Amino acid sequence: MDSNEIRSRFLKFFEDRGHKILPSSSLIPENDSSVLFTTAGMQQFKQYYTDPKSADKDFGSRNIVTVQKCVRTGDIDEVGDATHLTFLEMLGNFSFGGYGRREAITYAYDFITKELGLEISYVTVYKGEGVVPKDDDSRTIWNELGVKDIRLDGSDVFWGPTGGSGPCGPTTEIYCKNGAGEDVEIWNIVFNEYFCDHSRERLDKGEATLKKLDILGIDTGMGLERLLAIVQEKKSVYETDLFESIIQFIQKSSTNYNERSARIVSDHIRTAVFIIIDGVIPSNSNHGYILRRFFRRVFTKASIVELPNNFWIELIKIISKIYFKNYPEIKEKFDYLVSVATEEERIFEKPLDGVETYRLDLEATKIGVIKKLGTNHIPILKDENTASGLYIYTLFETFGIPIDLCISVAKKLGYEVDEDEIAKALREHQEKSRAASAGMFKGGLANHNEKTVKLHTAHHLLLAALKAIIGLTVKQKGSNITEERLRIDFLCDHKLTDEEKKKVEDWVNEKIKEGLSVIKRDIPRHLAEKIGAEMEFGAKYPDIVSVYFIGPGDSPYSGVSIECCGGPHVLNTRELGHFKILKEEAISQGVRRIKAALI
Ligand code: ALA
Repeated sequence: MDSNEIRSRFLKFFEDRGHKILPSSSLIPENDSSVLFTTAGMQQFKQYYTDPKSADKDFGSRNIVTVQKCVRTGDIDEVGDATHLTFLEMLGNFSFGGYGRREAITYAYDFITKELGLEISYVTVYKGEGVVPKDDDSRTIWNELGVKDIRLDGSDVFWGPTGGSGPCGPTTEIYCKNGAGEDVEIWNIVFNEYFCDHSRERLDKGEATLKKLDILGIDTGMGLERLLAIVQEKKSVYETDLFESIIQFIQKSSTNYNERSARIVSDHIRTAVFIIIDGVIPSNSNHGYILRRFFRRVFTKASIVELPNNFWIELIKIISKIYFKNYPEIKEKFDYLVSVATEEERIFEKPLDGVETYRLDLEATKIGVIKKLGTNHIPILKDENTASGLYIYTLFETFGIPIDLCISVAKKLGYEVDEDEIAKALREHQEKSRAASAGMFKGGLANHNEKTVKLHTAHHLLLAALKAIIGLTVKQKGSNITEERLRIDFLCDHKLTDEEKKKVEDWVNEKIKEGLSVIKRDIPRHLAEKIGAEMEFGAKYPDIVSVYFIGPGDSPYSGVSIECCGGPHVLNTRELGHFKILKEEAISQGVRRIKAALI
């Protein structure tokens, strides 16, 4: 029985028993800003537990069944074991006064044992605490159904509320054995009998009050992936049909396979895909930030198992195939998903992870775990007591890993460092880059005076502002600068609202006020790509490129704006004065134009 069959059997089972089938809500809760993501099936129905009558009006039914997409970031550290995932589909039936304990438990029992033919290992019921009594009713019902192993449990079997307040109550959970013979919790049946006036955290601290609800509500949740592992007699969720082909691809293409990292890659990329199709784009706040964190973990783990370049293209393809029947939008948005992943990889900050990798490699060499032949086959050690300077330089040259941090890591581990070797390599590198930027690479302002130079720097800030405010999908398509104004054409799928324009202006003016340094560095092209320098699409760049960094200037490869450019620019953003957008218009399908000036 595969995942598609289980989903439809579940929905049909409850439909046959008077439930209305409703679609999953978005992963981004619409009515509850106190939670970032939808973590449970009941979230879209929260209000009906306190106002059951409106369910009649809204759905024509008090009994509902869904397959709900959920993201649970709280479980992120457990991901990689047999059962925990950050994205899951939750099979759930809900009732707002339509039925009670006996029906809810009997439905679950019948679905598990009769419909699916599985054996229940044991169930748990609430042992009682404070104002909430021991759940003797559930115990009696299980008993009558012939389940022998009934275990009393505490706060684990009291569920909710989600967010800052809401319905909650005692639960009864069903455990079955997976293919490894381990008991796994698969179904949680919640009896929403109370309303909690604060969050779960405060309830646990004794800072919240439980008020009995007028009616008993039913809220159940069964993780599809876990259920599949049991039905398909697998040892973990990663061997089920929802993961098998993802893991197989990673195993096949990895040159340094380890199971846990492969599992994390497959879990996180799947979560990222589902978050993106619900409208989130990576950013540095809220949902966008969580999405970015997922991508970063994917890229870190992928580099550990050594996946090939652009591995995500294949993974997204596999994911769209697995989910085609139920979530066709993954296939429809395939190109977009790939472009978001590609952009995230491009701006993935390697430097700090790189230092950590260097430390781990040195340590491993020290205790003889590995004889590391590093980048370009340069040994990590020059001799037993000396760390190779050339190796450290190569890390810098290839990945932008800061030299001084590597030196201090090596010294802390008790090695000497051949610093002369580093200095020599750096000298050669600078000579090469001087020659390169003198000759080949232009791409800056052809005719310049003080006014155009200022507008040129403002142009860089404007592009960075558009990316920060509108999103990373903004790409420069063209530009032009005169003495009076600058012009930028860029990819964007909508007319900027007045609010967006204001935010963009404010962002630029803020950076001007901050007095940021404008620093030029000549670096290898692949390093410029790695650190996410803006490059003109389709343009050919030489091996060494000039990159302008606008930022506080205290860190060599960071800034609010990083752009490949021939210059020239002002030295400090304070010189620019006040930035103002003059006009915003469409010039063709999906391409917008902004004209702006410094006043
Ligand atoms: N809302 C319950 C859960 O998520 C069913 O476990």
